[in-house]
Amino acid sequence: MNLLDQIKQHKIVPVVVLKELDETIPTLKALCDGGLPVAEITFRTACAADAIRLGCEKFPEMLIGAGTVINAEQANRAIDCGARFIVGPGFAAEVAQVCRERGVLYLPGCVTPTEIITAISYGVEIVKFFPCSNFGGLGTIKALAAAFPAMHFMPTGGISEDNVLEYLSFDKIIACGGSWMMKGTPDEICEKTARAVAKVNG
Ligand code: 3PG
Repeated sequence: MNLLDQIKQHKIVPVVVLKELDETIPTLKALCDGGLPVAEITFRTACAADAIRLGCEKFPEMLIGAGTVINAEQANRAIDCGARFIVGPGFAAEVAQVCRERGVLYLPGCVTPTEIITAISYGVEIVKFFPCSNFGGLGTIKALAAAFPAMHFMPTGGISEDNVLEYLSFDKIIACGGSWMMKGTPDEICEKTARAVAKVNG
């Protein structure tokens, strides 16, 4: 199965912020135990690259990507550490170039037609619609999808257990990103993850 199909199959991409490297294993294990072996590990903390490397080593079955990637240096570092996909809060041409050269899926954040046109010119096929709820949620995604019929969306920002099914019911949405299952202890993360997985597959 290709990467895109794997993301589609999971339906949810957890946004993971690790403050310390030693949170990596318990956090990723909680996601796997909850039935969601996917993680977007964000470059918002200093340990992100090391966490990606450690996660890829310890959980080879997991789909681990990098999030909040805003420049070529981070993109290269994330890919060197094993990131299978690169997510950004916005579109960065230098990141698009690195991902294209290295054959890694890039999901840039885009919320306007102009941003989507730029992303398309770099070969992007899926955009992260972020921050989703602030930019009009599903209504805006549907309007953009009408103008860009080949584009697919991963809404992120304001997705929760309460609205995830509504988003996933639109066929141009391949998965929803979110952090709603990431709060609390590893046990709590596992429990919220299992609930989310049951909901989207129910
Ligand atoms: C992100 O950066 O993708 C968001 O922080 C995730 O948004 P959420 O916390 O509202 O799920």
